[in-house]
Formats: sequence, C-alpha cells, structure tokens
Amino acid sequence: RPLRIAAIPADGIGREVVAAGRAVLDKLQAEGRFSLQWEEFPWGSDYYAEHGRMMPEDGLEVLRGFDAIYFGAVGWPTVPDHVSLWGLRLRICQGFDQWANVRPVHFLPGVVSPLRKADDAELDWVVVRENSEGEYAGIGGRNLASRGEGAEVAIQSALFTEAGCERIMRFAFDLARTRSRRKVSSVTKSNAQQYGMVLWDDVFRRVAADYPDVETESVLVDAMAAKFVLRPEDLSVVVASNLNADILSDLGSALAGSLGLAASANLNPEGRFPSMFEPVHGSAPDIAGRGAANPVGAIGSAALMLAHLGLPEEAARIERAIEAASAAGVLTRDVGGTASTDEVTAAITARL
Ligand code: NAI
Ligand code: MG
Repeated sequence: RPLRIAAIPADGIGREVVAAGRAVLDKLQAEGRFSLQWEEFPWGSDYYAEHGRMMPEDGLEVLRGFDAIYFGAVGWPTVPDHVSLWGLRLRICQGFDQWANVRPVHFLPGVVSPLRKADDAELDWVVVRENSEGEYAGIGGRNLASRGEGAEVAIQSALFTEAGCERIMRFAFDLARTRSRRKVSSVTKSNAQQYGMVLWDDVFRRVAADYPDVETESVLVDAMAAKFVLRPEDLSVVVASNLNADILSDLGSALAGSLGLAASANLNPEGRFPSMFEPVHGSAPDIAGRGAANPVGAIGSAALMLAHLGLPEEAARIERAIEAASAAGVLTRDVGGTASTDEVTAAITARL
C-alpha cells in the first residue's frame, strides 16, 4: 500500500527545502520499490493572515491518518514567533506526543567546518532532545493588566516528570547501543536548577545502571557547549532537555558547517501517532525566495523519514547521494559554494 505523507512546507525557505526533499523522494519512488501518496497542507503564516490561526482547529485529526509528516519551517515577520511556533510545530509535536527529537550531526565531505582540523577528522554525534516537556511545557503566564507600568511579572516554568525523563534516556541508551561508540552524555544545569534537573540526573543514574555496556557522563550545559567545540571526538549520543538540546543542536550543526545541513526526526516511538521529519533550521526570512537555501537538512530529514517507515536501504542511498554531491563540490553559499537550492537538489537526485 502507498505510504501516506502529509507535507507542511509552511513558511519562508521551508517551502523551498520541502520541494527539494519531495523531488528526491519522488525520484526514488519512481523506481517502484515503494510508493508515496502526498498531500500538501497550506498551513503557516499566510494561512494565519487569512484564518487567524496557523492550522485548522481539526488539523491534528486530519494529520492523524497519515504515516508521517514532512515539515519545512514555520515563522514569518507578520506573526509573532511564539504564536507561529506554538500554533503549528509545537502543537503537532505535543499533540502527537513526539517525545523524542533525534538530531544527527556529522561532517560532510567537501564542506569546510570550523571544527575540521584535518581532512580525515571525524565528527559523528546524535543529539537526543526531550521533546514533550522541560522548558517548553508551556506553563506560566504574564501578569499583563494588574500591575503598573514597568512592574509586570512573568513566570515560565519547566516541567520534568520521572516518566518523561526515563523514556528519553532509555531511547538514548538504546540508540547508543546501535552505534560504534557506545556512550551517552547527559546534559543539565542541575547545579543552578535544583529541582527538575536534579530529578533528571537521578533518573539518568538509575537508567544507566541498566546499560552497563554503555559509557556515560553528566556534563553541565555551559561546559558541554565548550566541549562541542574543543573535544567533539569524545561525543556519541548527547541527551538533553528541550531547551538545552535545541541550543546545542544548532551549535552542533553550525560546527559541522551550517545550520542548513542538519536533519531531524520528531518521533512518537510507540507509533500511536505519526512522526514528523524536518530540518533543524527555521524559515530564514533573510534568504527566503532566492533559491539560496541549503536543502541538505531537509533531504536528510526525508532519509530519516524513509528509515522510520521501514526503508533503511533507500534512506542510506539518500545519505550517500548527499555525500557524493557534497564531495563533488555542489554546495550552496552557506557552506562555501555557489550552487542554488535546485542545483544541489539535482546533483543529489542524479547520484541516487
Ligand atoms: P533560521 O534557522 O531561520 O536562520 C538562522 C540563520 O541561518 C539565518 O542567517 C539563515 O539564513 C541561516 N540558514 C538557516 N537555514 C538555512 C539553510 N537551509 N540554508 C542556508 N542558510 C540557512 O533561524 P532564525 O533566523 O532565528 O528564525 C527565523 C524564523 O524561523 C523565526 O520565525 C523562527 O521562529 C523560525 N524558526 C522555526 C523553526 C522551525 O520551524 N522548526 C526552528 C527555528 C526557527
Ligand atoms: Mg532550534
């Protein structure tokens, strides 16, 4: 049966890179080993201008019947960023309990990276982000009216549950067991945030005891930011809370060469709801509409989607085609080349 995929390009370069990813997938499916049935949804900031919301009220019901969601990026200067993000991307992530956000980071041949000290240098991590609670639980409020000017108070609380911590850690440890370097680094700021993050550390120690074959470390987030730069070879799986992993994964992809390279999967590992695949980057209004967006993060996300849908060989072919096009020097400007989005996409498609 065909795999049903919901495409949500949304805003800015999200549209350009989703078109790129679809082109690659459509070329692969033309070989006949699998088939995709696409439906595209025009949700995002333009939709908001017309309807006063980012997606229809029953949007999640509509998406529920799909095998996967292929997402671009959301956010445009016409809508406040917290409204657009919560109205679409976070609504889907939280509504579908996509509690594991997987963000691989690695070097690409031909790409100059600030970290690549030698041609044969290796960088190969996965940031595993807790994607359902933590600092993005949406708990808090603003005291807008009741105080005088200059006296407003706002509270933004983080939520950590033992169950939420445990499931993301088991996910990280299971992932580490599939990798050549079996190591999990846990990131917190538990010296300063003394409740939720200390619970996180406690659960990490308890779960780690079930995986004696996996090396572990606990690192404070500020030190981990430095470690990303100074000792990247010492990392394999990095597990962190929603906010910390959000920041670290942008840092990681920039260190690998560009934010435009990074792919991600928002997984509901139980398979009760569809999972969502998207590049790590945002809608990049500064370069949108110019054919300058690097499509590699989105195309890599398409590969993650195929792997999730039970097509690991096809996924690996996309990965190899990305590497081959990159090694051949077909690169967008953000990674030092001159090629357009379409040229990079065509180069990858040709190397499948
Ligand atoms: P951004 O990721 O859109 O851009 C940051 C910088 O990286 C920009 O200079 C941009 O040109 C560059 N960049 C990003 N992706 C690139 C690509 N594929 N190729 C080449 N260069 C690329 O982050 P920014 O500027 O902070 O946010 C812009 C909008 O995107 C905001 O509305 C924000 O809320 C939204 N956003 C949405 C996300 C999502 O939908 N998952 C994630 C992050 C931001
Ligand atoms: Mg981010």
